[in-house]
Amino acid sequence: MRLRNIPGADEYINDSPYVINDAKSLKGHWQSDLFLNNNPLHIEIGMGKGQFITTLAEKTPEINYIGIERYSSVLYKAVLRFEKAPMDNLRFLCEDARELTEIFDENEINKIYLNFSDPWPKDRHAKRRLTAPGFLEIYHEIISPEGLLEFKTDNTNLFDYSLSTINDSPLWEMCNYTYDLHNEPTLNEGNIMTEYEAKFSKLGNPIHKLIAKPI
Ligand SMILES: C[S@@+](CC[C@H](N)C(=O)[O-])C[C@H]1O[C@@H](n2cnc3c(N)ncnc32)[C@H](O)[C@@H]1O
Repeated sequence: MRLRNIPGADEYINDSPYVINDAKSLKGHWQSDLFLNNNPLHIEIGMGKGQFITTLAEKTPEINYIGIERYSSVLYKAVLRFEKAPMDNLRFLCEDARELTEIFDENEINKIYLNFSDPWPKDRHAKRRLTAPGFLEIYHEIISPEGLLEFKTDNTNLFDYSLSTINDSPLWEMCNYTYDLHNEPTLNEGNIMTEYEAKFSKLGNPIHKLIAKPI
């Protein structure tokens, strides 16, 4: 998702108290210096307009959340919505996932959500997929040993690719997966729909989900 450039979006985001501009300086101290508690830290990478993580933060105030989106024009929409009902347990970053190890310390993250990540269908762009081996290495550096990686998509090619990168990875172990989340009562329990999930399941597309844990 890349919305057309929105004039003033960068400035708005820079000035928002809900968007962390000096993220790298908080590495290793997110709980103590930003959230001022010792609660677990969960992140969503590529959160788009933030429907999923905002709903999750409302439902589970005992977890700290960071929503990460690389385009300011997209994040701007999420921040505008969040400002109407801000919460202490959710903050945002305008960053690329490639930067994560500069931002979070080893073991600092307890759960990583990837939802409807861009498919990058061409082989020559495979490295840009958020479940490519290079990204799995980055996530492994910041996830705690008891942590989890959860990924949802309706794109079967991307899902098959992700199952194989995780199964082939010496760093991650598959815990569970389904090609039809909404008809899988156990995995679907408590499921929170993302914007893309609502849109594509309405069109009749089955939603795929996998859960992996670090080795
Ligand atoms: C297809 S949208 C899905 C949005 C949302 N997660 C949902 O399910 O409705 C994917 C989002 O991931 C963001 N994104 C893609 N690659 C990224 C990266 N390397 N770092 C951070 N965000 C990224 C895109 O800008 C886009 O907003």
